[in-house]
Amino acid sequence: MDRQEISVRTARLSDAETIARITAAYAESGIMLKRAPENIIENIRNFFVAEIGGRVVGCCAISFFTLHLAEIRTLAVCDAYKRNGVGTMLVNKAEGILREEGVRSSFVLTLSPEFFLGLGYKTVSKEMFPQKIWRDCTTCPKLMECDEVAMLKELQIVVSS
Ligand SMILES: CC(C)(COP(=O)(O)OP(=O)(O)OC[C@H]1O[C@@H](n2cnc3c(N)ncnc32)[C@H](O)[C@@H]1OP(=O)(O)O)[C@@H](O)C(=O)NCCC(=O)NCCS
Repeated sequence: MDRQEISVRTARLSDAETIARITAAYAESGIMLKRAPENIIENIRNFFVAEIGGRVVGCCAISFFTLHLAEIRTLAVCDAYKRNGVGTMLVNKAEGILREEGVRSSFVLTLSPEFFLGLGYKTVSKEMFPQKIWRDCTTCPKLMECDEVAMLKELQIVVSS
């Protein structure tokens, strides 16, 4: 597949159902946390989608924690479109928005550490993100047996002259 065919844009409300469908498939197999459609709708402005030929094939979201720390989450690419650079483009887009906002570090909790290693993320202790634990992890069924890897990246802020 030609990577030029992939485009990434901010999600619209009409994408919410597709995002819910793409992520539900992974949530059912325990690869990611299930996000209820109403939760996706509520946070739709923080989502991005990747399109190929007008079809939404992937998504991700940003979640701000402090002025300088944000999470990249709910990253998912439809099975049939994996390994074509879609995931990379989604993360690049999310990081670009975070840089524009002056956020210095982005983190992920993931079961796909190899993918994020390639994008410059380093494994860290989950205890580095107590805000995350209080906001999301306490309601997660896996809380005591969390198998996700926490990873952090320092974002290079581009100062425009
Ligand atoms: C992780 C995920 C988003 C990657 O999306 P993708 O579009 O396939 O990723 P890319 O094509 O941009 O991959 C870029 C590179 O990352 C690495 N990579 C991607 N998936 C990988 C995997 N499963 N195992 C090891 N390395 C992987 C490869 O080096 C790849 O480059 P290559 O294809 O040239 O070898 C996708 O596999 C997915 O949706 N997984 C299920 C949900 C999930 O785990 N989300 C992360 C939660 S935070």
